[in-house]
Amino acid sequence: MKKEKIAVAYSGGLDTSVIVKWLQEKYNADVITVTGNLGQKKELIGVPEKAYKSGAKKVFMQNLEKEFVYDYIFPALKAGALYEHTYPMATSLGRPLLAKALVEVAKRERCTAVAHGCTGKGNDQVRFEVAVMALAPELKVIAPLREWEFKSREEEIAYCEKHGIPVAATKASPYSIDENIWGTSIECGILEDPMEVAPQDAYTRTTSPENAPDKATYVTIEFKEGVPVGLNGKKMDGVSLIHKLNEIAGANGVGRLDLVENRLVGIKSREIYEAPAASTLHFAHRELERLTLDKEVMHAKAKISNDYADIIYNGLWFTPLKKALDGFINETQKNVTGIVKVKMYKGNLEIAGRTSPYSLYDMKLATYTKEDTFDHTAAEGFIKIYGLPSKIYNKVNKEKFAKVKKVLKRKK
Ligand code: ARG
Repeated sequence: MKKEKIAVAYSGGLDTSVIVKWLQEKYNADVITVTGNLGQKKELIGVPEKAYKSGAKKVFMQNLEKEFVYDYIFPALKAGALYEHTYPMATSLGRPLLAKALVEVAKRERCTAVAHGCTGKGNDQVRFEVAVMALAPELKVIAPLREWEFKSREEEIAYCEKHGIPVAATKASPYSIDENIWGTSIECGILEDPMEVAPQDAYTRTTSPENAPDKATYVTIEFKEGVPVGLNGKKMDGVSLIHKLNEIAGANGVGRLDLVENRLVGIKSREIYEAPAASTLHFAHRELERLTLDKEVMHAKAKISNDYADIIYNGLWFTPLKKALDGFINETQKNVTGIVKVKMYKGNLEIAGRTSPYSLYDMKLATYTKEDTFDHTAAEGFIKIYGLPSKIYNKVNKEKFAKVKKVLKRKK
């Protein structure tokens, strides 16, 4: 029998390190690890060594940050995609790209299967596997966490000790954390009780609003066709801009979210998010759209935003529907060019100014001064016809139906 060759999405954490050895033993397989850099703060130094020590035959480190920003984050930003109107989806957006990177290596290395370290009750397993199904339908997917015998962290650590797999000496965090350039997702521990306020130690990249500076910070963000291209008057590439904005907004306590959300797998879960740059960019982008989008397009887009968010959250990134909606969204973004000034103060965002060469705001039409050019006389006829259906309905109901009721009452 041909020996199995499995490519694993490897983070360097406990679960995926155990997976490398476990797949070797259980499937008698050669194991290849693939680690993606999505701009996470956590050091990736030492990850390759750890992968080899865990038993990997080959180790791949992929720098996916730029692709992540331009092909995943910016489309979501242009779409205004916030799951359940709140979550900018750093985790959800990362999964299809990690799956894509894994599939690319798996194909090149002629693997028979791919594996991931997602649990059996989360959204991530769905995102991962549905992406693999779309990109490489012939590849088998293994989800060790759904199959293996370990019931606790301690059992996994014992397994590591038995096999000489290095275990981090630092005390394990009580939380499950996933992070990348677009944000951090934090769950488990005390956070599982939705009545408990998130403790300070749950947050790792934002200052608490109480400790944020007493003086407001102003930033200007420049957009070109819906994409941020400049910060505080300086042109910047997307990756640097998001990192810089994470710093500035994070220091002002901006971007903390506390959400009870509906998972794809049917349960409600409570998660804390830190997304300083994502929150600021969504806020600024929305303000620029208010200025530049035609009313009907803006209202129609709000519905599409919701659908687009669901597509991302539900793991349907590599689908024809997502592509089709991109067509609509890109069309709406052609005039979303301009500058937005945002005030940050103790966790809060305020609009401090917006301007665009494509602004549809017409001062001459909006003003109440003598510069006004709005045709007030046209309003009269407009209102007469606009209110006509309501007028007729109420007339009929109040007069005629009252009479009918009276007659019916007498007949009883
Ligand atoms: N609930 C978020 C999502 O489904 C994040 C999931 C991962 N969270 C974590 N803390 N590991 O997109």
